[in-house]
Amino acid sequence: MSEIIAIANQKGGVAKTITTHNIAVGLAMRGKKVLMVDLDSQASLTISAGMEPSDTADNSIVSVLTDEPGRKRDIRECIHPVEVGEKGQFPQEYCYIIPSIIDLADLEWKMFARVSRELILRRALEPIKKDYDYIVIDCPPQLSILTINALSCANGVIIPVKTDYLSYRGLTHLNDTIASIQTLTNPGLKVYGVVATFYESRTKNGTAILMELNREYNLIGIIPKTVLPAQGVYKGLSVVELAPKHKMAHAYMDIVDMIISGKYERKGDINDVEK
Ligand SMILES: Nc1ncnc2c1ncn2[C@@H]1O[C@H](COP(=O)(O)OP(=O)(O)OP(=O)(O)O)[C@@H](O)[C@H]1O
Ligand SMILES: [Mg+2]
Repeated sequence: MSEIIAIANQKGGVAKTITTHNIAVGLAMRGKKVLMVDLDSQASLTISAGMEPSDTADNSIVSVLTDEPGRKRDIRECIHPVEVGEKGQFPQEYCYIIPSIIDLADLEWKMFARVSRELILRRALEPIKKDYDYIVIDCPPQLSILTINALSCANGVIIPVKTDYLSYRGLTHLNDTIASIQTLTNPGLKVYGVVATFYESRTKNGTAILMELNREYNLIGIIPKTVLPAQGVYKGLSVVELAPKHKMAHAYMDIVDMIISGKYERKGDINDVEK
């Protein structure tokens, strides 16, 4: 049975998609069988994985979640392989994706009218859950019905947070939503931890926010700000594939190893983090 991990934060541009992509590919590089789910109509994860959303328009997440008979497809037809590593370094069968497409924005409205609308994704994943070690879901930047669906079927949630004050303050709202989900639809949902993103050691502010995050939450990763994600997207490569020796890749692989071990504890003292 797979473990389902949602990568969520209602705030936009905090590196949810980059975090999902790196964690999923990193798990595949460790030999795990992984399914990524792109739950955002912007289809950033789909594009980051080197796919063109229009190529899979009839076999996307929309065909999985819709209840329109003409559009609905078997979920297995909507799962596409993703090549991991440059020059076929890793076998293709380890990483897969259910891609997204812009039509997901329309579907979201229709989902509202359905019975048990919070559980549409959970039910859809049921038949294939046993086929993967991990399912990693990239959530959209809203606390929408799609994010609620992801949190309602996940075993755990990882929260990327930009190391700035407003992102840090925005976490309260997300925590309230997670608490509601735990009460209403998914009592087993765990918060695995917070990942500080876009960290710049040069800025005093970044370091101050890092200390706050570490005090109040389980800070499982510190991801530096670099140009690598922007470079990788042109090649459809995550940072762990593109530059496995870079400290950004190491930071993501440390999280991957925490997921595999089931122990969400960052190594090293926060005071030793580069300032
Ligand atoms: N550590 C980083 N350093 C520099 N740029 C980064 C880093 N992580 C992500 N980015 C870049 O920041 C932008 C936003 O990242 P990403 O798309 O992962 O955020 P998001 O939270 O998924 O956004 P949205 O809320 O729109 O879905 C992208 O252009 C990405 O390449
Ligand atoms: Mg995104």
